[in-house]
Amino acid sequence: MVSKTKKDRDELLKERIRIPGRKTYQEVFDKRTLMELYGLMKDGAIDILDHPISTGKEAKVFRGEQKDGTPVAVKIMRINTAVFKKYRQYIEGDYRFKDVPKGAKMIFSWTRKEFSNLRIMHKAGIKVPEPISFSKNILIMEYLEHRGFPAPMLKDVDIDQEDMEYVCGEILDHMKTLYNEVEMVHGDLSEFNILISKERPYMIDVSQSVFLDHPEAINLLERDVKNVVRYFRSNGVDITQEDVVERVGIEVEEELI
Ligand SMILES: Nc1ncnc2c1ncn2[C@@H]1O[C@H](COP(=O)(O)OP(=O)(O)O)[C@@H](O)[C@H]1O
Ligand SMILES: [Mg+2]
Repeated sequence: MVSKTKKDRDELLKERIRIPGRKTYQEVFDKRTLMELYGLMKDGAIDILDHPISTGKEAKVFRGEQKDGTPVAVKIMRINTAVFKKYRQYIEGDYRFKDVPKGAKMIFSWTRKEFSNLRIMHKAGIKVPEPISFSKNILIMEYLEHRGFPAPMLKDVDIDQEDMEYVCGEILDHMKTLYNEVEMVHGDLSEFNILISKERPYMIDVSQSVFLDHPEAINLLERDVKNVVRYFRSNGVDITQEDVVERVGIEVEEELI
């Protein structure tokens, strides 16, 4: 018989006492995150942390409230080694991040990058949630809602063709301002990262957005254009890649798009 070491026994015990449904919460609210939330509450950035809106692998988003009752969205980035490599490539090559930090600090830079991107885009008049505050791996922003519920993703709304054409036109306008005035690309634009709030489409999830001089910018732009065309075409909007390139005013080198 193989005798079990204390470590083995501890592992076994851990296996047994895992409580279903609790894992998510344990992962989000590690001690560091709890301390950060406490700090944000003390500073008055949030007063209440309400229910979760979304619990993705890399970030969890909660509804929160400020003291005066204003709802906010609280995005908590998970401190997770599996995503460090992916994030690194977007931070590297961005002049705002001269030294790319390692480990958890990378996630803090990633959070700061999303806050900074939101601020730049919001200032340019693009429909994105207004950023409110950030600290370490937590980002607080305007809460987008629809009739008392969190705003739905574009992929989940049931709208007729005329409205779909309107939404498509607005998204192309957002892309145009982003490309020409802000000189950035979203980088992860799809029906998953467009929310419909107050009858208008908003772009969200801008942590990987980069300036046009970033080495990945062209590849990201090409993917954004393809995603937009694929989604709207499959929803009855008569649009081609060439239309988007022209409408957004993208300068094309022959072999790119
Ligand atoms: N400002 C916001 N207001 C309301 N809901 C939001 C807001 N930001 C994000 N969400 C919700 O959280 C989900 C995940 O947010 P997102 O920024 O796309 O993170 P990720 O895709 O990395 O998990 C969104 O699909 C949306 O449902
Ligand atoms: Mg997303």
